[in-house]
Amino acid sequence: MATHDASGQTHDVVIIGSGAAGLTAALALAETRRVLVLAKGSLTGGSTAWAQGGIAAVLDAGDTFDNHVRDTMVAGAGLNDPDTVEFVISRAPQSIDRLTELGVPFNRESGDLHLTREGGHSHRRIVHVDDATGWAVQEALLRAAEANPNITLLPGRTCIDFITDRHREQFSAAGRVWGVYALDEESGRVERHVARATILATGGAGRVYQFSTAPRGATGDGIAMAWRAGARVSNMEMMQFHPTCLYNLDVKNFLITEAVRGEGGHLLHPETGRRFMVDYDPERMELAPRDVVARAIDDQIKRFGLDYVHLDISHQPADFVKGHFPTIHDKLMTLGIDMTAQPIPVVPAQHYTCGGVVVDLDARTDIPGLWAAGECTESGLHGANRLASNSLLECFVFGEAAARDILGRWDSLEAPPAILPWDESRVADSDEEVVIKQNWTEIRRFMWNYVGIVRTTKRLERAASRIDLLMREVDEYYGAFRVTTDLIELRNLLQSAQLIVTSALRRKESRGLHYTLDYPELADEAKDTVLVP
Ligand code: FAD
Ligand code: SIN
Repeated sequence: MATHDASGQTHDVVIIGSGAAGLTAALALAETRRVLVLAKGSLTGGSTAWAQGGIAAVLDAGDTFDNHVRDTMVAGAGLNDPDTVEFVISRAPQSIDRLTELGVPFNRESGDLHLTREGGHSHRRIVHVDDATGWAVQEALLRAAEANPNITLLPGRTCIDFITDRHREQFSAAGRVWGVYALDEESGRVERHVARATILATGGAGRVYQFSTAPRGATGDGIAMAWRAGARVSNMEMMQFHPTCLYNLDVKNFLITEAVRGEGGHLLHPETGRRFMVDYDPERMELAPRDVVARAIDDQIKRFGLDYVHLDISHQPADFVKGHFPTIHDKLMTLGIDMTAQPIPVVPAQHYTCGGVVVDLDARTDIPGLWAAGECTESGLHGANRLASNSLLECFVFGEAAARDILGRWDSLEAPPAILPWDESRVADSDEEVVIKQNWTEIRRFMWNYVGIVRTTKRLERAASRIDLLMREVDEYYGAFRVTTDLIELRNLLQSAQLIVTSALRRKESRGLHYTLDYPELADEAKDTVLVP
């Protein structure tokens, strides 16, 4: 029976993360297995609830899977794995059907799904719920999970590290994951959640940057945990910057969806009103892939000493703008910006972690007993730059794949052994919380300044030496004090920063999201940056 006390009783499957990937896997498993879903903070605290634009799927008679595959590979600068791309894209229509069955109220026009357009897509193929698709998806998945007696949802748990063979009462050197140690955020106690199978679905590491559209909890926890447990991590240098985050001194991370450009929005120099994309990508203009548009804005800002550029859709009828973007319109009105009549000030900000834990088409990681899905993984879908709205899709397809694989091999999965409790015998309560705050701020600032949209080897090396210093400090602190969510996140943020910088230093070319002035050319061969623990 599923339990959630601190004594370490066994569940069938433990899933870490209650976003699109975690809940999709939970619902598929719960037909026959009992599942525990753990989440840091609230059950809606991940990026899924924040997604705006929508979900990419070939649903129009004039579109084809081949078109979607080609657009994904062009955006990904050839670093994508063609088998993964085909695997995901061919399953998109089924994913949309399942979400519709769960009650996601996708926008329709004369009965058919309304398809919007985003950068890098050669056709209209973005299924959406106004400009707040993620919230509708999160709500529908959560509603279904809450109604399922085989699913236990446990928010307020910050997972710390996997339980592995090191933590068996009888030590074994063989590497296998048997669940996870998690901090109960309210009581401060560390629980053991032991399982035959564990699925990692913890989202990205966006908060490693000072400016990011991602929620506060996107601190790379799962990627760092998997790395510490011995899983390979790949392409971490491929950090995606969204071109259009609202520039506002009070509201720091509000995204202005790419669909605004898809529905005709122009990017303008704020003083001259010039449509500057003509100088960077005259054919695709504002609908070039994100890396191209983000670099163009970064160049304008640096070249002309600007604080922001303008995104303008006020030439479209006011009803059209309000009808397509009600959430953004209302939010901007509270800030005194009427997007039907005036341009929106925007800047690029970190948005998506393309790299992550290496998984195969069954969502299996390198470590027996551990599967992973969603933004914490590198499945081969995105390559060097994710195509807009391919990310939620990846969560649905790989969440299902993980569940299918676990169910298929259930009888061969061993029952977990007896597991040692969390060892707190040598730690005390922290008396220097200021160290955590100081280090968080420092990491996020140097990552933004040294490991941002345009990189150089010298800046990357500067970041690497700061990371080495901070790692010694944080390791010392971690060994001495009782864990808190802030400390766990700081340790993971730092580990993620190290993986990003190490990967960026290894790539001796500019490809997709990794652009360095020291190696501006594309190498002949597209190769993943695979880090082995
Ligand atoms: P998340 O939804 O981020 O969920 C992560 C889960 O893991 C959360 O429940 C969190 O609490 C939990 N967790 C994390 N660490 C721990 C820990 N240590 N212990 C316990 N639990 C933990 N993609 C699209 O395809 N279309 C879009 O329109 C789109 N718009 C976006 C808009 C914004 C503003 C942002 C930030 C992203 C957008 N994306 C979009 C990307 C997409 O939303 C994410 O990639 C996707 O939702 C990730 O889902 P996930 O299930 O992998 O992780
Ligand atoms: C957006 O709406 O611009 C975000 C879409 C995405 O990240 O895929």
